[in-house]
Amino acid sequence: MLQDSHLLRCTGCARVIALSDLKEDFRCPECGDLYEVEYPAWGCRNGEVQQESAGSRRSMPNTSALRWLWKERRTSTELKDQSGVWRFRELLPILRDEQHIVSLREGNTPLYHLVRTADSTGADRIFAKHQGMNPTGSFKDTGMTTALSVAYERGFSWVACASTGNTSAAMAAYAARAGMRSLVLIPEGKIAWGKLSQALDYGALTIQLKTDFDGCVKVLAEVVRRAPVYLLNSVNPYRLEGQKTPALEIAEQMSWDVPDHIIVPGGNLANSSALGKGFLEMKHLGLIDRVPRVSVVQAEGANPLYRSMQDSGGEHLVPVEANTRASAIRIGNPASWKKAVNVVRATGGWVEQATEAEIALAKAEIGAEGIGCEPASAVTMVGLKKFMAEGKISVHETVVLLLTGHTLKDSDYTINYHRGTLLREDELGPLRGEIEATRRNTIELEPDAEAVLRELEKAAQ
Ligand code: F0G
Repeated sequence: MLQDSHLLRCTGCARVIALSDLKEDFRCPECGDLYEVEYPAWGCRNGEVQQESAGSRRSMPNTSALRWLWKERRTSTELKDQSGVWRFRELLPILRDEQHIVSLREGNTPLYHLVRTADSTGADRIFAKHQGMNPTGSFKDTGMTTALSVAYERGFSWVACASTGNTSAAMAAYAARAGMRSLVLIPEGKIAWGKLSQALDYGALTIQLKTDFDGCVKVLAEVVRRAPVYLLNSVNPYRLEGQKTPALEIAEQMSWDVPDHIIVPGGNLANSSALGKGFLEMKHLGLIDRVPRVSVVQAEGANPLYRSMQDSGGEHLVPVEANTRASAIRIGNPASWKKAVNVVRATGGWVEQATEAEIALAKAEIGAEGIGCEPASAVTMVGLKKFMAEGKISVHETVVLLLTGHTLKDSDYTINYHRGTLLREDELGPLRGEIEATRRNTIELEPDAEAVLRELEKAAQ
């Protein structure tokens, strides 16, 4: 990879910062905004489609050669080729030396056709890109391999993040692979056990703080100023470079004919930003000829972006006190909200919200497809239903739901749903009937074949 083949430009004031001047909190010292990785050789700025100039793609191989190369690498035995992130490395030249790649063979996740959703909505071309099928069970691995490799290359021995659980699981695993130490700050009692257990399993120094995610972010900002630890939250622009690669995979899996819509859950709002960057860059480079609409769905109890769009068209964001059982997206003050607004605007997408009952039912429906996901991912299905009901998505269009986490990340949620103890009476509302119809609680019986056969007969009716 080429030395200094990328630069970092502030998304607020557009100033470029020398890599050596970058602050520990990854914020612009002038205006406080976040940086974005830019590749001068492409003539592409801030992930936006620029006026095409004759020379802008001169240093890139031609698009058919790239597509062929990326596919060929899947048959290679080399780690950097087997990774579904680094096999696209021509589009993320952020390392000086490929020897520094830290990978768990992330990416290359399945794109599933949702057949039952097709039956219930009448739309046949609905797919789920399952990022929960990554090594640590969430989409965070794609961004962690890139940002942690940068930390490794720059000689850090400690990395750190504040997390609602998945980032910490991914960071701890990749740090362990690289022989580095990791510090995890999580809101006490507010993350799913599966995720907490991963951080411990992979050897992180795991600290629960008596606050929420937004409170953990504040504490960590001070920690990184005072100790030589490398921040791996998604304010780190190198995270987004890895997280843009599912956009490339989706395009590849659809034979480079991109879907009409991508629907993404919104928490700290880095993922929607990263996917949008991926699609916009591909368009700029001529790999695809149009971009899908990228839409974001938040939980109603953690909906600052939704409110911002309603109240000011995305001009201002007022933080909220977040509260949702979809603990992964329990975030009231999202760091990347401006980037997400830019992506929604640039691609013509929308922002929606989902109630607790809607999320729970949608999760059960995705489970009934034999796929499953964690609660935060299920907001995408709620978004799909709402956009179809409003006529924003038609039955003839192609839609990809981004499923961000594996169903086993939060099995307590699933069990409580099926036991009927997840939602309060007042939350069920008009969805009571559908929720009851999808519940599958266990049945306790004596060890008697007759009794089992009776249940079998009942269930078959
Ligand atoms: N889905 C899952 C499963 C997540 O873990 C997250 C974020 C999101 C969606 C939202 O993505 O923040 O990029 O908008 N989890 C972070 C964490 C915050 O700490 O694991 P986003």
